[in-house]
This record gives sequence, C-alpha cells and structure tokens, in this order.
Amino acid sequence: LGLPEGARREAWWMARRDDLLDRAAAGTPRYVYDLDTVRARARGLAGIAAVDRRFFAIKANPHPAILRVLAEEGSGLECVSAGELAHVFAVLPDLDPGRVLFTPSFAPRAEYADALARGVHVTVDSVAPLRDWPELFAGREITLRIDPGFGSGHHEKVRTGGKGAKFGLAVDAVPAVVAAAAAAGARIVGLHAHIGSGIHDTAHWREVHAVLASTADEIGTVAFLDIGGGLGIAYDPDAEAFDLAAYARELVEMKAARPEYALWIEPGRWLVAEAGVLLLTATQVVDKQGVRRVGADAGMNALLRPALYGAFHEIVNLSRLDAPPGTPVDVVGPICESGDVLGRRRRLPDATREGDVLLVADAGAYGMVMANTYNQRALPVEEALA
Ligand code: LLP
Repeated sequence: LGLPEGARREAWWMARRDDLLDRAAAGTPRYVYDLDTVRARARGLAGIAAVDRRFFAIKANPHPAILRVLAEEGSGLECVSAGELAHVFAVLPDLDPGRVLFTPSFAPRAEYADALARGVHVTVDSVAPLRDWPELFAGREITLRIDPGFGSGHHEKVRTGGKGAKFGLAVDAVPAVVAAAAAAGARIVGLHAHIGSGIHDTAHWREVHAVLASTADEIGTVAFLDIGGGLGIAYDPDAEAFDLAAYARELVEMKAARPEYALWIEPGRWLVAEAGVLLLTATQVVDKQGVRRVGADAGMNALLRPALYGAFHEIVNLSRLDAPPGTPVDVVGPICESGDVLGRRRRLPDATREGDVLLVADAGAYGMVMANTYNQRALPVEEALA
C-alpha cells in the first residue's frame, strides 16, 4: 500500500475502506464513527480497578450512538451546559442522574438551577454561585473545582489550570468558599480538577491528586476526588501512543496512598478520537509558486483543530491507497481564511485529483462538535457504524 510513511495500517478505517468509500459517495463532508473502537476503549478504562467511577466528557463527541455505547459499558457522563444535560437525558431518558456530572464554567444561574433540579452531581468552580445564589444550594451536596496551580496539555488554549486560566478555585481561596458553602447550607462531598487536555506525561495526575487529597483533608466532608480527563492520543502515527499502563499504575498508586477517597476520572478525547474519521472529497489540485495544494470540500468549517491549535491530523487519499506517496502538498479547505489548512507537506499520491476521497484520521473527538457554518457552508453529516 502506498500510504504515507507512518500511516496506521492497523487502523479500523483501513479494514473498512470500501465501506467508507461507499458512504463518501453518499455525500461529504461526513464524519464516520466506529462503535467497536469506542467500546474497546471503554473496556480499557474499565479494566483499571483503582478507578471507582468513570465519566465520559460528552463535549468531545455527544453523538447518540456513542453515548449509548459508553453508558452500556458502565461509564457516567460529564456535562458542561444545560444543553449537554438536556441532550444526555433526551438520548438516555432512564439514565440515573447520579451517573451524570455537571461541571460548568461561568454558567448562568438558570443552568445551575436546571442541573440541581435534575439531581445530577453539581460542581461549583468559583465563589460566585454560593455567594450570589445561596438559596439554590441549601441542603445540597456539591463538588468544588480546584485549580491546583498548574496547567498542562497539547496547546496553551486547552490548559485549564494555573494563574492565567479562568477555571477553578485557587487553593488559598478554598477556606472562603467552604464558609460560603456552609452559610448556604451546602455540603462539600467532592473535589474536582481538570487542568488540561492532550497530556502524555502521566505523572501529572499524581500531582493533581495530591493537591486534591490535601485540600480534602482540610475540608473534612469530602468523599471523592475527580482528577479530570486529559489523556492524550498519538495523532502523528510516528508518535508514541498514550501509555495507558503507566496511567493505570499512577491511578493504582494514588488510590493506594489515599484509599479513603473514591477516585473518579472524566476523559473525553481518549475514548473517541481514534474512533472517528472525517471524509472529504478533493475539489481541485493547484500549483502556485512552488507549492501544490489539494483542495477539499470542507476545511476549518468541518474540523477546526488544525486552524485553532495547529493540530496535526493524518490525511490519506482513500481512493488511491495503492499509489505511492508523492510530492508533498498542502491540503486546504474552501474557507476564505489563510488558516484554512488541514495539513501541510503531506505526501498524498501525485495522481490525486478531483473526486478522490480524502480521509482525515482521529477526528472523533472535538471534530463535529466544533464544526461551524462559516461562509454559509453546510455542517458535515455524521454516522456511526455498528
Ligand atoms: N473534564 C472537563 C471539566 C473538561 O473541561 C474536559 C475538556 C474534559 C474533562 C475532557 O478532556 P479530554 O479527556 O478530552 O482531554 N477542543 C480541544 C480540547 C478541549 C478540552 C476541553 N475540556 C481540542 O480539540 O484539543
């Protein structure tokens, strides 16, 4: 096969190539999700016995079929808005609200009221809700989001801890919030931290857990510590995969160190990124001043990550997998911005031409959810393969 060097020959989309070409013929841009991959990932996490509860961060991909598979596999769901809560209960009307977290950032009062009325676990991430709306929290159990003082992740825009970040309570602000909770009549039963996304250094979660545990010791009423998500994946096929065994070892050690606190996690990306591909159709091949560009029928409108974070996604010509890698090209979309580049210097086959199906890999997390209709372009369609 003439895949670019490093392209993942073992990926599910290699085995389902003909199926994907048929689906692309029905229209692109199109996100396709492989539910077996989601299920396998869910089982991988379920195998870590140190974890008491897992919650999928649905912001990564709230496709109904994906939520159903994850719920079936025993995962809870983490939501950040009233819209996400409504979606979860529309898809899974019988879901126990105790399996749902509400972890918003700067949410309006009405969204807290909605979440409390639904009976889900509610996280407060600053003093404001308790100080300004104490009546909402009277008699309630709540979780506090802590900023351990540092952030991590694949890009500055996804680091959610540390002084520059809008998220969470600095540790030195906790006593005042504990007092506000007491005044409101709320009981603090959990502590939460999520300091970034796309993290590969597994030692980082141990540091987060240590801060949460010592803060919990001071509060005295805490039953669980939620160390967030953030598990990375290898977008570049030449990069190392996320070391799940090392992650599991960290979790086992932190649980052993502080068995009195239940351990919760809430990953998004790791469960779904590799389960999704974006199918596009090539529109034009153009040479300009020494650079060859392959145009696709969607770009940053369908997949924003390369434009927003400079993120790498592998791209292959699914119609010509047998052709050898050719001269490097830039793969660009149709949007009127210079940033509308899905991939630079990619060795697509020289024979690539209009009508070929391009596959953008690892698009199952933060793909469709961040798509937009800029330039009045239609949103991609989505389908899940059973
Ligand atoms: N929990 C909370 C409170 C979060 O804010 C997030 C993600 C997660 C869990 C799940 O994080 P994950 O396991 O997926 O890293 N759009 C960016 C990622 C933004 C992540 C936002 N928060 C991207 O495409 O890289």
